[in-house]
Amino acid sequence: MTAASSSVRHFLRDDDLSPAEQAEVLDLAMRLKAAPFSARPLEGPRSVAVIFDKTSTRTRFSFDAGIAQLGGNAIVVDSGSTQMGKGETLSDTARVMSRYVEAIVWRTYSQDGLAELAAHSDVPVVNALTDEFHPCQILADLLTIRENFGRTAGLRAVYLGDGANNMGHSYLLGFATAGMHITIAAPEGYQPTGQVVSDAERVAAGTGGSVRITTDVDTAVAGADVLITDTWVSMGMEDSATDRLRDLAGYQLGQESVDRASDDVIVLHCLPAYRGKEIAAEVIDGPRSRVFDEAENRLHAQKALLVWLMERS
Ligand code: CP
Ligand code: NVA
Repeated sequence: MTAASSSVRHFLRDDDLSPAEQAEVLDLAMRLKAAPFSARPLEGPRSVAVIFDKTSTRTRFSFDAGIAQLGGNAIVVDSGSTQMGKGETLSDTARVMSRYVEAIVWRTYSQDGLAELAAHSDVPVVNALTDEFHPCQILADLLTIRENFGRTAGLRAVYLGDGANNMGHSYLLGFATAGMHITIAAPEGYQPTGQVVSDAERVAAGTGGSVRITTDVDTAVAGADVLITDTWVSMGMEDSATDRLRDLAGYQLGQESVDRASDDVIVLHCLPAYRGKEIAAEVIDGPRSRVFDEAENRLHAQKALLVWLMERS
């Protein structure tokens, strides 16, 4: 192929999957978790590029291991060791890489850059985290919620803390797609962007979910089925760490929030976690925490996503 194919499916943000498609991916993820070596679409092996502009533990290992389980070969590189960012255009990079690999997974800063790479790629491009979205993490979280509740639709999830970061945005879009009621409790200045909120509201209107943005933690967490938080200092925001720790101090996911939630509440955190900051140690290490199941589910969800995307491209 010499020009990017418009029929190729990418996963750049959570609402790139329709509600029915998201459910298909999660169904497949559950089947692959039960039978990890039952799908071998990359047998050969065929290769997948996994590229990092930022550091990673879970994303790096889960994609590498998952691609191996699919019979394939992961080419895992830090972008600094490539010609990316050194003047070679994203379009040339995409066109070249499309000749070698079956999919491109990229963790980067700019959502626009990711979209540009995808626009010129003949193979699926997957967002492995940008400043704006982290949609692979949301698939793992939804899988974890399904495992605990047997469903996602109608459940009430509350995310505390930095609502303007990639996780806050992806919870809005991804959980609305799953028919959930998603509340973001964040202080002024840390609330999600208006465009993402309105996009999520539009999705929720079609799924029976809902979206709520508030500054009030106590009201938000009452009766919640899922409580979530994320680091207060995301990658790339280290220069404003002092301000962030001060501004978000009242938004820690602590035991009192767990006590106000539903008796069956589960606690999620995408990790890495900072105990005593965004989450209390007794909560992340306590009986309602599902964070290590959530981390494991990155593997199963991403395998399903890759299979699903490659089948349709
Ligand atoms: N949750 C997550 O994406 O973790 P890593 O940064 O370790 O990949
Ligand atoms: N919001 C965090 C997520 C890490 C997986 C960050 O971007 O650093």
